[in-house]
Amino acid sequence: MRVNVTSIKNKEDLTSPLGTLVIPVYKKNFPLNSTILEAQHEEALQALIDRDIITGATKESYFLPTHEGLYNAVLVLGLGEEEKCDTETLRRSMGAACPALKTNKVSHICFDLSHFPELDPSAFLEAIVLGQYDFEVYKSKDNETPAPTTVQEAHVLVHEDIDAEHVHQSAELAVLACLSTNGARHLANTPANELTPTALADFAQGIANETGCECTILGETQMASLGMNAILGVSRGSAQPAKLIVLRHHHSDDAKTIAIVGKGVTFDTGGISIKPAADMHEMKYDMCGAAAVLCAMMNIVELKPPINVICVVPTAENMTGDAAQRPGDIVKAYNGKTIEVHNTDAEGRLILADALAYTVDKYKPDAIVDMATLTGACVVALGHVAAGVFTNSDSLALSLADAGEQTGERVWQLPLWPEYEELIKGNHADLCNIGPRWGGAITAAAFLKQFIGETPWAHIDIAGTAWGADHLPYLNSKHATGFGVRLLTSWILGQIEGIE
Ligand code: BES
Ligand code: MG
Ligand code: ZN
Repeated sequence: MRVNVTSIKNKEDLTSPLGTLVIPVYKKNFPLNSTILEAQHEEALQALIDRDIITGATKESYFLPTHEGLYNAVLVLGLGEEEKCDTETLRRSMGAACPALKTNKVSHICFDLSHFPELDPSAFLEAIVLGQYDFEVYKSKDNETPAPTTVQEAHVLVHEDIDAEHVHQSAELAVLACLSTNGARHLANTPANELTPTALADFAQGIANETGCECTILGETQMASLGMNAILGVSRGSAQPAKLIVLRHHHSDDAKTIAIVGKGVTFDTGGISIKPAADMHEMKYDMCGAAAVLCAMMNIVELKPPINVICVVPTAENMTGDAAQRPGDIVKAYNGKTIEVHNTDAEGRLILADALAYTVDKYKPDAIVDMATLTGACVVALGHVAAGVFTNSDSLALSLADAGEQTGERVWQLPLWPEYEELIKGNHADLCNIGPRWGGAITAAAFLKQFIGETPWAHIDIAGTAWGADHLPYLNSKHATGFGVRLLTSWILGQIEGIE
């Protein structure tokens, strides 16, 4: 999607057809505020306002086709009450209007924000890019039905006090981050018979080939010689070999280094501690943490910020083959700690244990953030509305919460008091991979903490937010959400401030 930004001062530059003109409106706050709306259309819309057909309520929109002129349709976009309107309201309102864009075959759109300097234009564009995503690759096509029209070009008309160039830059960044989010959704929606650990590694290698960043992929033999027996244990029941993927964006030896690590279980049957059949198909999404960090890394290698970023993905398939790990097995992880595997379905923490310990040891990052669809308990705690965050660093808690508010990908901190660490001590080994039933999201985090030493670290449990979010009009809840790509990108770019 191409983006153009024009200041109201230069509105005469808007000469070519603009497609659909979007005019935002707050609830019961009329008349319509637009610089380019023609009087006759304003009259027609005013009649609808007088009849309470257009009210400005949140998620309400009205599409009025017009004759071909500077624009060829008007979309009046309700934003609800002005005092309650934040950036996420803009995303949701625009997301709710995406079906109307599809029905009316809108390919060009123009936001007249000349009277709304308080609104962030990027939020509308984000909703369009995310809201138009579909996953139709596996459906047979009949040749008669044309491909749906999507928005190819967006104009934004801004108030004269606003720096159009600055708006343009943020808009380009927002669009990039949403395209990568759709990339993560595509990886996640791809079924596990196609998206194997090897396919995920090929995807990462593809990023490196296109951008010139460094990519290393460790196979099972290399992992065995490094002592990564926790991930190898998980992979034993599968015919698909496990991999450890590392992508590196190197700025300079003196710059701060940030590491992001994502859980890449391409399918989680639970292993010998097998899961119930009912929702097991959803476990193709158990690589959403990996998808999020890899697609955030796509943004980083494109933007090349002045900071070093390491992206690490342990990837394996948790199956029940005859070589599968058994409950009670003891494995020694990369950092030498021994783990009693009481439940083979608590595999995410096992593959992350090796990946975290290896990343900390080899790259000595200044901060490390992992993202994982780790526990059903996190879904019980926070539902689909926020991800859980667990950290040993107050400043990470703050900066991640801030990035969450900015992007609408919210995180909510849960505690990591030492009492929880007591609960994952092993009987016959240093650690046990499960605790009691209660506090399951926290004991999982307490387990991961055993593998990061003193490094400032945050763990983000996205089990609830990676799919199934049906309260977000800009994300079709049939698909994975791509949660984390925008959060991590924004958080990493935020880490640059104060360094230079
Ligand atoms: N992939 C699951 C976590 C999960 C469950 C994510 C449901 C999203 C929805 C993870 O590997 C798992 O199975 N965790 C177990 C841990 C338990 C055995 C301690 C769980 O949450 O039940
Ligand atoms: Mg295997
Ligand atoms: Zn599991």
